[in-house]
Amino acid sequence: MDRIAITGGARLQGEIPISGAKNSAIKLMAASLLTDEPLRLTNMPRLADTRFLGKLLQRLGTEVVESELESGSETLLTTREIVSGFAPYDLVRQMRASFNVLGPLLARSGQAKVSLPGGCTIGARPVDLHLKALEALGARIDLHEGYVYAQAPRGLKGGEIDFPFVSVGATEHALLAAVLADGDTVMTNAAQEPEIVDLAECLNKMGAKITGAGTSTIRIQGATSLSGATHAVLPDRIETGTYALAAAMAGGEVRLTRTRSDFIAALIDKLVEAGVEVTAHNDGLTVKRNGGRLRAVELETDPYPGFATDLQAQFMALMTLAEGESIIRETIFENRFMHAPELRRLGADITVHGGEARVRGVEALEGAQVMATDLRASVSLVIAGLAARGETVVNRVYHLDRGFERLEEKLSACGAQIRRIQGDGEAED
Ligand code: EPZ
Repeated sequence: MDRIAITGGARLQGEIPISGAKNSAIKLMAASLLTDEPLRLTNMPRLADTRFLGKLLQRLGTEVVESELESGSETLLTTREIVSGFAPYDLVRQMRASFNVLGPLLARSGQAKVSLPGGCTIGARPVDLHLKALEALGARIDLHEGYVYAQAPRGLKGGEIDFPFVSVGATEHALLAAVLADGDTVMTNAAQEPEIVDLAECLNKMGAKITGAGTSTIRIQGATSLSGATHAVLPDRIETGTYALAAAMAGGEVRLTRTRSDFIAALIDKLVEAGVEVTAHNDGLTVKRNGGRLRAVELETDPYPGFATDLQAQFMALMTLAEGESIIRETIFENRFMHAPELRRLGADITVHGGEARVRGVEALEGAQVMATDLRASVSLVIAGLAARGETVVNRVYHLDRGFERLEEKLSACGAQIRRIQGDGEAED
């Protein structure tokens, strides 16, 4: 398997263009199941996860055509008819967002059989809210042998969905089904992430009638059919935040372009509190740090517009070198500190108790071999490696390839000493 080697100590100087958002792209791709006309997605990130979902969609009947144009990457998805309503365990297990094909399959063809995704390294991640939302739209749901059998032979009906707590995936899933339901749907306590707004905007271009996306109450007037559309995937706020943190960690000055600073307002507040200079401009932001130690700051992860759980690991990496003690509370997932023991291998001083990590800043980190069990944890080790003395080797790079497009290329263009070591095909664990 491939590894990434980083020689720490180089300051970063330059520009990083931000790609389209992975977590939006994969839901937008699923929306193509809702229409027999072509859905053209521009600003598409080329990632393991988008390739993977493309393969699943092909099995369900979607024609997927990728093109690399001067203006950027595009994917054209056309589902003239659903040829199969079956998403097997092997595919859903590998990427849990595949589960989100259930709603559109059900809405368009009245039935689906989709594997339950099971747990994952960051938490149990049940899908009960997804299933309750579909039931509120009139679906009949049965669970057998690890599969969800969903039926709505006479179509879905508009309904009221009141989420007991905020779930990004369940909100998106409900949207992907309610747009083709008969009648009106009202969702309360909905997630407000920018990716929800992106999905609603795309669905509206396809002829859906959604209002309130980006607030906690979303209203949907169901349509009998949807049409094709062209939609640009919004910029990846987690990639934006990750490179902002990389610049803060390594020092120097990096301009992040083709993105939006308002998507990471909670992170910017914390960066400024820690002593990093951040300047917003109309196509992104500049992050600057020249010498001096950072200050330790406290933070808690929360649903948007709070501090994103997907940036928690990267922020923890930054705090390992700050002056003082930083307290980091993870409130979204119950097991999202898997990076802490790996950061300790680099010399960080971190203790974890339940959902709270205490990071006592040290003077320096030292390079070592490390590995992580999820995407954001892996990139936090890359960030730490940028400032560690000597060489850090991050194993299990396939996690990074799931969500960061051309990571080594983007960082080395700014002066980072980072390279990929091609694997020999042997498993590491
Ligand atoms: C999305 O996951 C993202 N994934 C995650 O990013 C992100 O961390 C998360 O939202 C929170 O922002 C994608 O968009 C593909 P949730 P999702 O439903 O939708 C519990 C990454 O690294 N819950 O908002 O699965 C759940 O267990 C990934 O890119 C239920 O209990 O997150 C969690 O504790 C990791 N029942 C909480 O809600 C349900 O039916 C919030 O999860 C659904 C969720």
